[in-house]
Amino acid sequence: MEVIIQPNSQKLSVIAANVIRKAVIRKPNLVLGLATGSTPIGLYKLLVQMHKEEGVDFSKVITFNLDEYIGIPKDHPQSYHTFMNKHFFNHVNIPKKNQYLPQNIVENHVSFCQEYEDSIRRCGGIDIQVLGIGKDGHIGFNEPGSSFASRTRIATLSKSTLEANAVHFGDDINAVPEMAITMGIGTITDAKQCLLLASGLNKKDAIAKTIEGPISAMVPATALQMHPDVVFLIDEAAASSLKEREYYKRSYENKIKYS
Ligand code: PGA
Repeated sequence: MEVIIQPNSQKLSVIAANVIRKAVIRKPNLVLGLATGSTPIGLYKLLVQMHKEEGVDFSKVITFNLDEYIGIPKDHPQSYHTFMNKHFFNHVNIPKKNQYLPQNIVENHVSFCQEYEDSIRRCGGIDIQVLGIGKDGHIGFNEPGSSFASRTRIATLSKSTLEANAVHFGDDINAVPEMAITMGIGTITDAKQCLLLASGLNKKDAIAKTIEGPISAMVPATALQMHPDVVFLIDEAAASSLKEREYYKRSYENKIKYS
């Protein structure tokens, strides 16, 4: 596990964007796993900038989103389809046919989820999976208690997630869709590399448990401790409960110095 601690979220976005830029240049048909939420907005902004100002080409890139709410239309202002169009897809040259997102309806969810898994496999698997983390330690909408072997499926949002997401629904917890389709933890950890971004004090407990706590289905992100190539990009506030933060900083400085 690599833990990179930076003073603020902007610096995290810069590091993540550079990782993706390098990867797209090396492999133009890169398969990217994408996340929504407030955390990756800065990353998408930089990728758009790299496309517009430096000509970084996304025309062969394939994307798979982690999750989508069930029960709101695709064009709802808070759907993840809308989020991705607004922050990323409308501003880069990823062909529509290469943009995969979970469906927003419950009908035929079993066959849909199987097809989603099959599509990921057909594309050669996810090269880089971008992740945020919930206050309850979720990744995607894999809430506490999710199996580490879980695959793409329908899931019910935890109370903590409903409360956190209410802000996007006029502070009305009852307006937040209760269910979603999410990649499973097994789907996520099949990615060749995982980049988890976290910033802010409200993530410090989840980050401490994820990086330094025991592996447990009750903290879904702890599954990443077993991943061979995971990078935690966290700001000082999110890192503030880590016992070994001075060590992680020293390790990263040495890595930069000797690479
Ligand atoms: P946030 O959400 O980026 O809006 O904090 C992250 C998540 O719930 O996974």
